[in-house]
Amino acid sequence: MAKKTTKFVCQSCGYQSVKWKGRCPSCGEWNTFAEEVVEEYSLKRERPKPLLEWEEVETGRMGTGFSNLDRVLGGGLVPGQVVLIAGEPGIGKSTLLLQVSDRFSGKVLYVSGEESGSQIAVRARRLGVSSREILLLPETHLETIIRAVEEEEPSLLILDSVQTVYSEKLESSAGSVAQVREVAFRVSELCKERGIPSFLVGQITKEGTIAGPKVLEHIVDTVLQFEGERHTFYRVVKAVKNRFGSTGEVAVFKMTDRGLEEIEEPSAFFIAGRVRSPGSVIFPYTEGSKPILLEIQALVLQALYTTPQRRTQGFDVNRLSLILAVLEKEVNLFTRDSDVFVNVAGGMSVDEPAADLAVALAIASSKKDKLVPEDLVAFGEVGLAGEVRAVHFGDIRLKEAKRFGFKKALVPKGMEIEENYGMEIIEVSNVREAIDLLL
Ligand code: TYD
Ligand code: MG
Repeated sequence: MAKKTTKFVCQSCGYQSVKWKGRCPSCGEWNTFAEEVVEEYSLKRERPKPLLEWEEVETGRMGTGFSNLDRVLGGGLVPGQVVLIAGEPGIGKSTLLLQVSDRFSGKVLYVSGEESGSQIAVRARRLGVSSREILLLPETHLETIIRAVEEEEPSLLILDSVQTVYSEKLESSAGSVAQVREVAFRVSELCKERGIPSFLVGQITKEGTIAGPKVLEHIVDTVLQFEGERHTFYRVVKAVKNRFGSTGEVAVFKMTDRGLEEIEEPSAFFIAGRVRSPGSVIFPYTEGSKPILLEIQALVLQALYTTPQRRTQGFDVNRLSLILAVLEKEVNLFTRDSDVFVNVAGGMSVDEPAADLAVALAIASSKKDKLVPEDLVAFGEVGLAGEVRAVHFGDIRLKEAKRFGFKKALVPKGMEIEENYGMEIIEVSNVREAIDLLL
């Protein structure tokens, strides 16, 4: 067995020590020390070469069997690519990866530290898995897993989940920051060496785990976020980091009794249940190439308690506070004695500032108890002075709105767009103008 050498590293500033410390002597943070293995690096004979002499290597992409997941990945998996798929327990990570294993062409090694072989077999039967090329290994010991990969030489590795696996080189328990990083690091090294793409499952809990996927982001190539409300059946996979493609791409799935199904027309899906009432505004969302029409809902009502509530689902609550402050200062729309709720219908989460204008409009609409025109979409970032700022992908958003029969678009003034797509384009330079015009 290799000699064990470890050190303790402050996860906040990188300060190193041979002993664990409760408080970092360098940055002063508490409880930031985590144990890490000291690796002996051998020198590689790589020499600097003029940039323009480097050739582009065309890597063959491997399909996952889900065309939208491939799009999110940037066109499929690249050899040696390590993909972290992070999400709350029960959201469908194992289900999706089992389906990917079934559809993948080539040998798949599915390592599960979460469930027993028979539990997974039951799920596989339910999903109608028929591939004979899936090898299942219930195991949590990293060194055993690595040996299995070396012996079996799979074309795809799945590790479910990274929190359940431990290396014998570390004393800390599975799921600790040190273990999770060590596991991700060693698996990544192995996959890169052998050109095997891999999916690592990362569990996130609402309370926030000690060793959540955050600590792995810089080790892996790609981070996919798996989202959705558990009581609804839609699921969203979003690329939040991608060395082999762009971020922001989204794939929408539906959870059925036979596993996950891709939803080809997410816009139709998300606006299907729209109700005509004040506080509802359609926002054409897009962080990637595929736009999705979403319904932003706001509810403003007399506060029940002395401290008014601000609650959001699918939208940043700090961003909401900012919008409320702007509405008060610039539009004289007071909500300080009101409870304010903002919800992205269908449970999708939106972190684009482009949603600001739709959120502001939805709040004003609810507060004034007036409907926003039914055939209108709105997008634009709202600044602190109430100014409406230009955002990306204007044309992509408008085209999608047009496709679904919307006739008016409220957009930032002076935005560069190629054409109006037969819609009435209403340009506004600040929120006040928007609210005066429409409500
Ligand atoms: P799972 O993939 O086990 O979630 P995770 O790995 O992210 O923890 O998904 C579990 C949920 O999905 C569970 O509540 C049951 C449901 N489910 C279905 O609705 N249909 C199916 O075909 C399967 C396999 C699971
Ligand atoms: Mg699972």
